Amino acid sequence: MKEHIKIEDPYDSKAFRKIGHELIDVLANHLEAVQTGAHSVYPHKNPNKELEFWQNDFNDELSHPLSLFKTIIAHSTQLQHPKYIGHQSASPAPITSLVALMVDFLNNGTGVFEMGPASNAMERIITDFTAKKVGYHASASGLLTSGGTLANLTALLAARREKAPSAIWQNGHKENLAVMVSEEAHYCIDRSARILGLGDKGIIKVPVDKAFKIRPDLLQKHLEEAKSKGLHVFCIVGCAGSTATGSYDDLNALAKFSKTNNLWFHVDGAHGGAVVFSKTHKKLVSGIEKADSIAIDFHKMLMTPALNTALLFKRGSDIYKTFAQKAQYLWDTPETEEWYNSAKKTFECTKRFLSANAYVILKTYGKDIFEKNIDALHESTQILTKLVLEHPKFELAVLPESNIVNFRFIPHSNLNELELNNLNLQIRKELVESGQFYIVQTTIKGKRYLRCTIMNPLTSNADFVELIHTIEKIGLTLYDVLIK
Ligand SMILES: Cc1ncc(COP(=O)(O)O)c(C=O)c1O
Repeated sequence: MKEHIKIEDPYDSKAFRKIGHELIDVLANHLEAVQTGAHSVYPHKNPNKELEFWQNDFNDELSHPLSLFKTIIAHSTQLQHPKYIGHQSASPAPITSLVALMVDFLNNGTGVFEMGPASNAMERIITDFTAKKVGYHASASGLLTSGGTLANLTALLAARREKAPSAIWQNGHKENLAVMVSEEAHYCIDRSARILGLGDKGIIKVPVDKAFKIRPDLLQKHLEEAKSKGLHVFCIVGCAGSTATGSYDDLNALAKFSKTNNLWFHVDGAHGGAVVFSKTHKKLVSGIEKADSIAIDFHKMLMTPALNTALLFKRGSDIYKTFAQKAQYLWDTPETEEWYNSAKKTFECTKRFLSANAYVILKTYGKDIFEKNIDALHESTQILTKLVLEHPKFELAVLPESNIVNFRFIPHSNLNELELNNLNLQIRKELVESGQFYIVQTTIKGKRYLRCTIMNPLTSNADFVELIHTIEKIGLTLYDVLIK
């Protein structure tokens, strides 16, 4: 690599063309290798050693980008691998890598129309398309945000603006405000409420039933208790589905409760809201169209790389009121609704060209491709669930409604909970370090479970059979060593 680099060099089109062609070949070869299992799913690394490796690399001489790319790939977790059954991140449709190349090349933002004409128009189309799948009327509107966390925070801000007794955006906090949410909600709801200044007392966690769904019979009691403490509850959040188990709250019951009590109803569908695209599985979110706002991640069950979330509002005009603010250098009037100036609707100013992913996937593979993906992931979930249920040494935490399966290995009935927790912890550690499978773990009511989220439609029946056998083999060996 030459050392005397001119500022023109990073912009050289010939070098770009050459590296680009080579990189696509590297990625396509890699995709083949992971899809055929010729590559491990996780490159087990010690965090400090990994840091040291990259520190040394950074301080070393300049390198050719292709050799750098190959090293990064080798040091990365392989989400395209059918044996990646871990976190709730999509195995993105590979076409989206080409989308990334294009949108980063263009670097068109979505804050104002003139920074991204196609970007703003496509964002409108994708959010309108998703709103229609939800069952919202044409007056609904939406935007894309960089993630479900930001979408949920934005929804709570909208809820507060609409339902708090005073104008907090203008005058600051006066009342003691609170939100109600299932105790199984994702931590970002708790965090968002704290960012809004609600504090410990402003987050009312409602217990769940055996299926990990919020208990509608306890809602009124919790609301009355909050009122008696001088709290003003302005919002109830429903899980569709919850992070640990993928359980769906009864959205019809929550809608009714919110209407009776004049609360904003937000659905955190970051993970499971995607089922609105499936005729078969949409029943899981029955009543979702009654929500005031809904967050749905494209980067979970909708084949899209992170981050990419739709935040939808039943009444489109709500979207513009949330961040009413003067930014004269961006737009002329803060009050008007201009769908094409996206920054009016969102916390983000410069925002990536997010809409291209879903748009390109739908235009390339058809408007029902998300439905096919959702259906395939749910079918795979049933296969794994059946294997777990049929095996006498495995225990399922809860019958999955979504694509999340939690189970644990119980080699012998004489083990206590502490031993079982430790055994399952060690099983996962060994399994993941072997590079054969990538799964995660979770603790539910004090019990440690192995947690699989089926994100790749290419994960096969044979992969699940192998997973169960491998866990059993590791588990029995560990049982002999650790416990027996
Ligand atoms: C139910 C739920 N809500 C919100 C989030 C946060 O979404 P994101 O990671 O897109 O910020 C998650 C993430 O797993 C989730 O499962």
